[in-house]
Amino acid sequence: MQHPVAYAVAPNGDYTLTSLWGLLLNPWAFWQYSHNMLGAVQTGSFAMAATGAYYLLIGRFEKQAELFLRVSIITVVIAATLQLFPTGDQQGVLVARYQQPTLAGMEGVFKTERGTPLAILGQPDVPNQKLDNPIEIPKALSFLTYHAWTAEVKGLDSFPQSEWPDRVSLLYYGYHVMVGLGTIFIAMAVVSAFLLWRKKLYSSRWMLWILLLSFPFPFIANTAGWITAEVGRQPYLVYGLMRTPAGISPRVSEGNAWFTLIGFMGMYMVLGILFLFLMYREIDHGPAPAEAN
Ligand code: HEM
Repeated sequence: MQHPVAYAVAPNGDYTLTSLWGLLLNPWAFWQYSHNMLGAVQTGSFAMAATGAYYLLIGRFEKQAELFLRVSIITVVIAATLQLFPTGDQQGVLVARYQQPTLAGMEGVFKTERGTPLAILGQPDVPNQKLDNPIEIPKALSFLTYHAWTAEVKGLDSFPQSEWPDRVSLLYYGYHVMVGLGTIFIAMAVVSAFLLWRKKLYSSRWMLWILLLSFPFPFIANTAGWITAEVGRQPYLVYGLMRTPAGISPRVSEGNAWFTLIGFMGMYMVLGILFLFLMYREIDHGPAPAEAN
């Protein structure tokens, strides 16, 4: 859907797969898969670190808590780094090559120019095609995207509006929330690993509080990444080949779609509440048998 490969178009307009290996070796798939999996590893590790921090803060299961923290912090250092480079970086390079309007929307670039700055903060004003109150690193986007400080990055003005992602602001914020949180995770990993190395982590209550309170943020980063990928693909269902309205099934009525959507939302809400309840019960119960040793 993001980068169709290994297909042929039949005379009646149908798309057919021409090579299974071509599909499996799609360059997009490798980086997307590894980036996604690292997101999952970070989420699990942060949950583990938060549990360890919680036990140390309330003075229960301290031996296990120290193990939880050791394992999770070392894992976060590795995963958070790989999330940025090479997997995040390589996904960015692919977006720049194959989905240029998406890159422009993600980065809030409205005007094409050489030596394009990287916007760290700023609010897209789409009707007036500008970024309000930008805080920028000069020329950094050109360098990160094309590894040349003076390279030209195409802004949204280079493309007809029919090719623009239709929710530029949502795309911009989704991307900035993901990358912003990813950067904070790296900083947290470095500080925690330093304290671990200096044998001060277990007694640094301020860091334990930060680790405890940070557990929801990887969930938010994953959701923001998913929003970036899906909103960024618009207005296509299959990028460059099939527009989203062409994917609407004429046999499914609006009522059916609402019924299914509300049904799924209800089901996930029940599962979500059950998940939180069971997690709380499990954490409160703790690793009892090991403590008895
Ligand atoms: C550290 C800096 C990061 C960079 C530079 C980065 C970069 C990217 C890029 C370029 C995309 C592709 C967007 C598209 O296809 O339009 C992406 C997608 C994604 N990112 Fe990140 N990312 C970073 C951090 C994170 C973090 C911390 C998480 C989660 C913990 C995360 C989770 C995701 C997810 C789930 C996707 C969607 C993949 C898909 O389904 O296509 N990213 N990221």
